[in-house]
This record gives sequence, C-alpha cells and structure tokens, in this order.
Amino acid sequence: MRQSSLVVVANRLPIDDSVAPDGACEWRRNPGGLVSALHPLLRHTPATWVGWAGGTGPAPVLPDIDGVRMHSVALSGEDLRDHYEGFANATLWPIYHDAVEQPQHHRRWWDAYLRVNQRFAEATAQVAEAGAVVWVQDYHLQLVPGLLRTLRPDLRIGFFLHVPFPPPELFMQLPRRAELLRGMLGADLVGFQRAQAAHNFAQLVTKVLGLPATDRRIGIEDRVVRIGAFPVSIDTVEMAALADRPDVADRARRLRQDLGSPDQVILSVDRMDYTKGIEQRLKAYSELLAGGHVKVRDTVLVQVAVPSRERVSQYQILRDRVEREVGRINGEFGRVGEPAIHYLTQPFDRAELAALYRIADVMAVTPLRDGMNLVAKEYVAARVDDTGALLLSEFAGAAAELPQAHLVNPHDLEGLKQGLLAALRADPADVRERMRAMRAHLHEHDIRAWARSYLSTLDQTGSMLARLG
Ligand code: UDP
Ligand code: G6P
Repeated sequence: MRQSSLVVVANRLPIDDSVAPDGACEWRRNPGGLVSALHPLLRHTPATWVGWAGGTGPAPVLPDIDGVRMHSVALSGEDLRDHYEGFANATLWPIYHDAVEQPQHHRRWWDAYLRVNQRFAEATAQVAEAGAVVWVQDYHLQLVPGLLRTLRPDLRIGFFLHVPFPPPELFMQLPRRAELLRGMLGADLVGFQRAQAAHNFAQLVTKVLGLPATDRRIGIEDRVVRIGAFPVSIDTVEMAALADRPDVADRARRLRQDLGSPDQVILSVDRMDYTKGIEQRLKAYSELLAGGHVKVRDTVLVQVAVPSRERVSQYQILRDRVEREVGRINGEFGRVGEPAIHYLTQPFDRAELAALYRIADVMAVTPLRDGMNLVAKEYVAARVDDTGALLLSEFAGAAAELPQAHLVNPHDLEGLKQGLLAALRADPADVRERMRAMRAHLHEHDIRAWARSYLSTLDQTGSMLARLG
C-alpha cells in the first residue's frame, strides 16, 4: 500500500460514476463546492484523496488524477441509502441549513453513519504515513477524526466543515449529538466557514459535553483542540484565465446570440437543492414580469439547476415544483422562440460555466442558507473586465466577504424583487467599482490562501502540543 504525508478524506472523490443510457459506466466530475475547492488545490501535490467514487459496487481501483492518488472507499446499496441519503442528507443537511426542510431521524441511519465513518477511518489509517497530516472534510465524516485518533495517534488530524454549523437549539435535536461532537473533537483543529459556526460549536461542547471551551480552544482530556473560521475559496487566477481564453470568449458570444441577443442576461447556477432558494427566485422574477418591470424581449433568465441527491424525497419534490413553476412562467410570459426562462439541468464543465458567467449581466445567487457558495466567487473571478452585478443572499457565507454585492434577504419577496431590479439597473460606474473591490478581495483570499491559513494553524497545534508536553 502506497502511503502519503498528506491525506485528504472526503465523502466524494473528484469524480463520480454515473450510468450512461446504454448501461455503461461513465466518469464525470461531481458538481459541488467541495470538489471545486479541493481539486485545484491538490493538483500535482503528492497527496492521497480518500473518498467514495459514486456507485455501489466494490471500491474501484483508480488511476492518479492530476498527480493525486485516489483511494476509493466502497459504499453498499444499504450504506448509500442509510448513510449518504439518510443520515448525511436527510438528517444532518436540513438541520445544518436551518431546517428549511424537516429533518428526519431513523436509528438505523445512525448505525450506517457510524459504520461508514469507521470504514473511512480504517482506509485512511492504511494510506497515511507515520506522522502524516490528515485533513477530513465535511458533515458526512464527522466521526472520522475521533475514530482515526484511536487507530493512529501519531497523525496530525484536521477537520473542516464546508456547510454551516447550526445554533445550539437546532443541533440539540440530534439524538446522537454527544457522539457527533466527540467525533469532531478527535481533530487537532476543527475549522468552519464562519466565526459564528465556531461559536455555536464551542457553546455546544460546553452544554453537551461539559468541556471548557472558548471560540478558539477546547480542552479535552490531556489535549487542546483549536477551532476557528477559515472561509473556503476558489482558484481565482485559474477562473479568470479560463474566462479570458479566446475559445471561451467565442463561446460566450455565441451563447448570447443563441439567447436572442437580449439587453440583459440574469444567470443562476445551483445544484437542485432546497437550500438554494430557487423557488423564491423564480417567484420574484415572475412577479417582475407580471408587473411589467422586466420584459422577456429585453431580459432573459438562465437557470442551471443540476439534479442532486435524486433519491432523497425532498429533492424529488423540489424538482417537480421547480419544473412546474418554470413551465407556468414560460407558458404565461414566453413567446414563440422567446422563453422567459432558459432552464437547464445538465451539469456543465468549467469552460462552459465560464462562458455563461461572461454573458451574465446579473448573477443571482440567493440561497436560503449556504456554507459559502463558490458559484458567487467564480462569477466575480470570471468578470475580467470588471463588469457585472452580483445579487447575493445575506445567508450565504460569501456575503461576509463580498459586501459590495447587492445583498438581499431571499425570504423577503419584495426585497428580492427590488434587489434584482437594482442589480439590473445599476449605474455602470457603480458596477465597476463594486466588481473591482470584490475581485481584489478574491485575488488575495483564494483557495491557496485558505489552505495556507488552515494548514499553518494545524501545524501550530502540533507545536503547541509539543510545548505542552
Ligand atoms: N458546478 C459545475 N457544473 C455545473 C454546476 C455547478 O461544475 O453544471 C460547480 C460550480 O462551478 C461550483 C460548484 O459546482 O464550483 C457548486 O459549489 P457551491 O459552493 O456554489 O454549492 P454546493 O453545490 O457546493 O452547495
Ligand atoms: C456540498 C457539500 C459537499 C458535497 C456537495 C455536492 O458542497 O458540502 O460535501 O460534495 O455539496 O453534493 P453531493 O451530495 O453530490 O456530494
């Protein structure tokens, strides 16, 4: 077994196996923020990425991807149902996103969560060399730090949560709350997107486990666990370079023509997820059309909504509702050859997304709750000529870093409509000033700055321990 000094552990590998219409297995990149953040970061790093490759067969043996070793962990059909679709995405995901959908609780989901976390911990223990740094990612694997520490006390273990960490009154609903907290405390450093999340975690650790905690440190047995906020980011330079490529610029020109060369294009790019506020956004757009504030001839909305977690019932219900609403709006306001909404559910590759970002005069990113939202950051990075307005939800982690966006509360329909109109009608000089400030921020705070900040803090935990002991 080849071993590495840096091991990243995530439920997802950067590829996903999906079944083609002819029954063959196809590999494609998973559309989601975790893969988008980690893939450019690890490229050409002598690291191992431990994760699930999609599908339910035995763990496939995979070639290195961009110089990174892929170590796949198998999930059975039962694991998929009870761990991934169940505990991770029907219990934790809604609780961590303010319970905008009702979280479900089933005892056998917990058993599967524990079993799969144990399997990930064992796989990681095999591929980590002595004293390696192991970086565990996200809500699917919260028990891995604790389980891994028992197997391999020599490792330096970090944990990072890509999604929000909820306030105590929501987290307290979880029947296995103590085990989840203890699992995370197996890490030397527990990182969150926002300071508020670290604060929530510290409060819970004291309330549930009775441990002394501040928003920076927690004492557990003979160890000190550091906690803190590390807002994740993107490869800003890479996205800007992609958007600037002549073939992408050509593609953008053709896309605009294909849309009928409207005066203005509004774009949204989401996984089909109830946290993304797609229905609220469609309603706001439809009311603007009904009120005559926006005309289909002049303004089009392009909504990319990539299907996600399709066997989880809330996601099926959402997709049905969104598609009914898109149909209604197009039926009511569209004209022959001029739909009000260009609705696309195919996943796009990076170059096509960059072309879409280039043609978007307004990018509407209005989740009800989001850990960060990398689409918002990608849009800003792609606007190499400093044009374009970002309409951004206050409830996305990105809002804390991009105050120059047009910030809106997506629950407030009137506010959402006004925000969209303000972004569409913004003065070009104002647009430029805001975009410049946001682009400057992302050039400084890119994915490498994120990793440096996290890993150097993790490194200090070691020195701190050495000094303590
Ligand atoms: N994405 C993609 N193809 C698509 C739609 C989305 O590659 O067709 C990517 C997008 O560029 C972004 C990520 O998926 O990097 C979504 O991340 P975000 O943080 O916005 O939301 P998440 O899906 O992780 O909740
Ligand atoms: C969010 C989560 C990631 C997840 C991604 C895509 O970004 O934080 O952990 O990989 O969504 O979701 P999926 O269920 O397809 O992995």
